[in-house]
Amino acid sequence: MDLRSRPRRNRKNAAIRALVRETRLDPSHWIYPLFVHEESTDAPIASMPGCSRWSLAGLVDEVGRARDDGIGAVVLFPAIVDAKKSPEGVEAVNPDGLVPRAIAAIKKAYPEMQVVTDVALDPYSSDGHDGILAPDGRILNDPTVEVLCRQAVMQARAGADVIAPSDMMDGRVAAIRTALDAERFTEVSILAYTAKYASAFYGPFRGALDSAPKSGDKKTYQMDAANVREALREVEHDEAEGADMLMVKPAGAYLDVIAAVREHTALPIAAYQVSGEYLMLKAASEAGWLDERAVVLESLTAIHRAGADIILTYFARQAAQWLAT
Ligand code: PBG
Repeated sequence: MDLRSRPRRNRKNAAIRALVRETRLDPSHWIYPLFVHEESTDAPIASMPGCSRWSLAGLVDEVGRARDDGIGAVVLFPAIVDAKKSPEGVEAVNPDGLVPRAIAAIKKAYPEMQVVTDVALDPYSSDGHDGILAPDGRILNDPTVEVLCRQAVMQARAGADVIAPSDMMDGRVAAIRTALDAERFTEVSILAYTAKYASAFYGPFRGALDSAPKSGDKKTYQMDAANVREALREVEHDEAEGADMLMVKPAGAYLDVIAAVREHTALPIAAYQVSGEYLMLKAASEAGWLDERAVVLESLTAIHRAGADIILTYFARQAAQWLAT
């Protein structure tokens, strides 16, 4: 090292800083999560200020606004009425259900918008678990995977571009790939929630969908927050099983996991800035304690810098607008 070197020279003005900047945010890398419900009006979500449960018409309008902001992909989460929830989550495979109707409506209005769909049973399960609950409290892996395959095929048939299993059952990526290919949906992608942690940061999301587990927790299928080597094992599985993209979730408190996964795969990596991360930044900003624009763009930059190619964020529209001004 040249002891006469002065790192500050590369920070001396905005133009030089832009020249040497290593990471740049771009809304075309973002996926915007949207909540949809059966009602005919949009409803603000109390646990997630700034987010709404959209009616089908409201959803399509919001997708149009997101497109105008430069967002190219959305991921859908349904709020299912209690009357349609059941222990096996059968509504998850209903071809006339809320999600297939939402996919069709979006693709009709905005064919180029990439629609990502969540594969898991929790919005549909009367037990609030991602898989089927046995009487003894266990979550049944293989019977769940069978339902997830039917759910994925149904979503593909409705027009989904990317299927995103968030359930964390073993072997589901290979099973879903096989099921999709058997129905000739060879072009439908799989974005696997590869390293999804059992996180308290999902709290506001479960409030938004009324999908919190009625008993127990999700620790027998979602990962232990203490582990990172285990994430690499999940990477090996999902890669070998045919995933097109991998995800780490949550994002902000798991940047080391994103970086480790980046080192171990050539596949694109997505990171999900989850509801609790959104809410922390939102609440502190609304209280006047943080500068919202600055902290949101900084948090997204950090997730990108750690190695995520794709970011799922509730701030997608807002951040895209900030970048444009
Ligand atoms: C469930 C699912 C969850 C989220 C996305 N898909 C919640 C959970 O696993 O309990 C959380 C997203 C967020 O908190 O923003 N399959």
